[in-house]
Amino acid sequence: MCGIVGVLGKNDAASVILDGLKRLEYRGYDSAGIATVEDGKLSRRRAVGKLSALSELVGQDPIKGTLGIGHTRWATHGAPTVANAHPHQASSVAVVHNGIIENYRSLKEELSGAGVTFSSDTDTEVVAQLCEAFLRRGLSPQDAAAATLSRLEGAFALCFVFEGHDDLMVVARQGSPLAIGHGDGEMFVGSDALALAPMTDRVTYLEEGDWAVLTRTSVEIFDRRGVLANREVQTVAVDQVLVDKGNHRHFMHKEIHEQPTVLAYALSHYLNPDRTGVYVPEGAPDFTKYDRIVLVACGTAYYACHVAKYWFEQYARIPVEIDVASEFRYRAPPMSGKEAAIFVSQSGETADTLAALRYVKEQNVDVISIVNSPTSTIARESAVALPILAGVEIGVASTKAFTCQLTALAALAVLAGRQLGHVDADQELALTEALLSVPNLVSKAIASENEIITIARDLAQARDILFLGRGSMYPLALEGALKLKEISYIHAEGYASGELKHGPIALIDAHTPVIVFAPKDSLFDKSVSNMQEVMARGGKVLLVTDKEGAAEAGQDVWRTLIMPSSDPFVAPILYSVPAQLIAYHTAVEKGTDVDQPRNLAKSVTVE
Ligand code: AGP
Repeated sequence: MCGIVGVLGKNDAASVILDGLKRLEYRGYDSAGIATVEDGKLSRRRAVGKLSALSELVGQDPIKGTLGIGHTRWATHGAPTVANAHPHQASSVAVVHNGIIENYRSLKEELSGAGVTFSSDTDTEVVAQLCEAFLRRGLSPQDAAAATLSRLEGAFALCFVFEGHDDLMVVARQGSPLAIGHGDGEMFVGSDALALAPMTDRVTYLEEGDWAVLTRTSVEIFDRRGVLANREVQTVAVDQVLVDKGNHRHFMHKEIHEQPTVLAYALSHYLNPDRTGVYVPEGAPDFTKYDRIVLVACGTAYYACHVAKYWFEQYARIPVEIDVASEFRYRAPPMSGKEAAIFVSQSGETADTLAALRYVKEQNVDVISIVNSPTSTIARESAVALPILAGVEIGVASTKAFTCQLTALAALAVLAGRQLGHVDADQELALTEALLSVPNLVSKAIASENEIITIARDLAQARDILFLGRGSMYPLALEGALKLKEISYIHAEGYASGELKHGPIALIDAHTPVIVFAPKDSLFDKSVSNMQEVMARGGKVLLVTDKEGAAEAGQDVWRTLIMPSSDPFVAPILYSVPAQLIAYHTAVEKGTDVDQPRNLAKSVTVE
């Protein structure tokens, strides 16, 4: 949700911090700030908007010091203003924070009662002022920070720096990730290893409740009881070079086009060497142990679970419950202990998904995660963490991660089918061959991009757009609507085609484009009937289908987009491409910030 960088360096910290923040800007970009300590003096610069605004400010008004902290913000408490931008400072301590302090109001009242005045609406300023209060009582910076942490409730990754201390930083992690980077006579801190990549690949991940005292040459880590803890220093292979856009206008466009390559790579991880069947390495689940599967995630990852529900129930004949994590964990559903609980998360840091995972672990249920970041918190707290191998995904709208999630889930569904005796060798071969066809099919689907650019010019004029699908195309309709609304800001809704007549059809008029995902499969005729109900009321239909479907039902529609014909099993992966490209080009037509849409962040690490 926010990005944090800290440096105890040999050279000026500002440029290193700005580079690190650049790698974290996808986590939030409402405002950014930096604080340094030079010759014991605390300095601070803050700016509203993208990191470029802070870089420009620092260029005009340089900030010196080899010790510093930086922050890029996704606003939780308080509007995106300079006053609310981090770092927050009391007179002799500055703090950056990722997360939410849930008891900040009572702490703020306590401090206000003691005469403290606040200059922001944030929970983070309360942390700075609380630490200041302990410093004024004569506590050392380390003890003042520890005393402050003991008063906080909620989720936080925090970095403290202190007036008068050029070689001291105190950091803490509870619910929001934080990593320490070990340099040569330097020390670094980042929200994740990507931020630290240019400085070091030697990383220590703080665990829940840990806090640490850093100097340039030492790290003391204490666990939640205040006991000195020994945490591993890992070598993390993170791309050394900032992921760049190459000749693409946006990261999202690059990541859509990367899909044939990354899907082939992801597939290779889930198929046996002779490509006749699926093979799930690293602790493949034994589905014969379970009587049902629970799939939990958020946003696009949840729609991947929704598609997988069709696959597991069709090919493995095992009941599947799906839910969004934020509802699942507060429903506190009864668990028999005979479930396989699968959590899907690109970032592996989504707070809602992590909280749901922890609920399930308390019920002694086997926890499997499917993640893009094997060192993420969700991965580290799972019994089995299966990778999707999508590579770094910078665009806030998830594209290649979604199709790679689907690939891993499809392989698991086939594995479950085999283990439970519903998929024989011939069927497994056929399903495997269908999966092997995906990279090429996706490549062909991407080739329809120029048609989509033309269609997008019309879609960009719409106020509302509906997406329809049946069967495993229904979650695709939901995902297509999410993709469109989150980057073009056009209101869009996805519906099960059969549901339209139960109310939503009242929305149909000549100004509401209806996008129908309908390959020529066993449900095609039903989808065509629903499509005709729309056209009978003047609705303009964009039919996304294959050649057969277009021949049968493409005559009277507004526009037809033809996808390559495919095995129904892999159609959801294939039809993700038009959903992504429709959203992308409509957003480009609208002129929105495609990679960093307003109000969003790539990883939502607060509830
Ligand atoms: C995807 O386009 C969205 N930006 C968002 O819904 C995302 O899928 C969701 O926040 C879950 O993120 P995760 O996969 O990192 O857990």
